[in-house]
Amino acid sequence: MLQLATIGTSWITEEFIEGALMTGKYSLNTVYSRHLEKADQLVDKYNGGYAIDDLDQLWQDNSVDVVYIASPNLLHFDHTIAAINSGKHVIVEKPIFTNLTEWDKAHELAKEKGVYLLEAARHIHTKNYQHLKQLIKFKTEKVTYPFLGANLNIGQYSSKYDRYNQALKANEPVPNVFNPEFAGGVLMDLGVYPIYVAIDLFGKPISADYKVIKGQNNVDLFGHVIFEYDGFNVVIFISKAVHSQLHNEFYFDNETVRVNNITDIDRVEMFSTNNGEIATLAYEVENTLYDEATAFADIILNNKVEDYKYLTNLSRNVREVMDQLNQSV
Ligand SMILES: NC(=O)c1ccc[n+]([C@@H]2O[C@H](COP(=O)([O-])OP(=O)(O)OC[C@H]3O[C@@H](n4cnc5c(N)ncnc54)[C@H](OP(=O)(O)O)[C@@H]3O)[C@@H](O)[C@H]2O)c1
Repeated sequence: MLQLATIGTSWITEEFIEGALMTGKYSLNTVYSRHLEKADQLVDKYNGGYAIDDLDQLWQDNSVDVVYIASPNLLHFDHTIAAINSGKHVIVEKPIFTNLTEWDKAHELAKEKGVYLLEAARHIHTKNYQHLKQLIKFKTEKVTYPFLGANLNIGQYSSKYDRYNQALKANEPVPNVFNPEFAGGVLMDLGVYPIYVAIDLFGKPISADYKVIKGQNNVDLFGHVIFEYDGFNVVIFISKAVHSQLHNEFYFDNETVRVNNITDIDRVEMFSTNNGEIATLAYEVENTLYDEATAFADIILNNKVEDYKYLTNLSRNVREVMDQLNQSV
């Protein structure tokens, strides 16, 4: 059983606590918030652990095995370094760090201290994604004509976008996720999902380019990523400021694999010029972080070193490509 501590108290932390407890492999030990009453509410709700508003208490608690970090992106690095230095395993929400230098420093330290450092890219751990991955691999090997590419799309109108615009008008602080000073922006917040998928399925691209429309405070609001591979392209559309209806598509000869939602895959369909539409899977999850919490517990409790190597390599490649995209803007 892993003794779990959490940092950050928004809905994603609740989702993680709930998913982790559902696995039966974690026990809630400590909840940190800058405001004790917020931490208390989570402790009461999930009936476990104790609340703190001082991080030093967390670092000094030797009974904590693993810390889940869901603070704003900019704070991930400092929280992670402190957690590793206190000898704890760390699960950090996506995007794990803001650049490759931080990524390398934190992973070197984790290695030195003998702890696991994991990026919570929840979508790649789901059963539906694993099925999709098998299907894409199979189809890519079986094509008659060369595989030409894929289109991945996430245009989600953020509930914080209205607040962002109002804050700009009133000259008030904008939500962290729309604040470049907090490492916000659509590439960091949503782009990381399809980038993970493209790199997991096809590896690092030969070239990576990001064309972007920015908001008044210089945050990226709407953009197109182009990954060039040997013989095919992957084009990714991302925005937190439009309500898009686009699906995701992978093209194989006269067939198209269509995925409804790349972050929460619950429907994968195949269309062909011969036989119309065939639904291949539709598996609904109760908690979106259950599969990830299970995978991480398995790595930590059973020392699944090969799985860890695979995930850290993927995480590093994603960060490296995201740095390239930032440089291309
Ligand atoms: N995997 C997913 O599906 C998913 C979904 C959403 C978010 N995320 C990731 O989770 C992380 C947090 O995202 P979020 O939208 O929850 O962010 P957020 O609401 O801006 O902040 C998260 C928490 O950090 C604390 N916080 C906020 N502003 C702070 C500041 N200025 N200084 C110190 N602490 C601060 C708050 O906790 P207290 O007030 O309790 O201290 C807050 O609950 C991000 O990395 C994001 O990418 C992942």
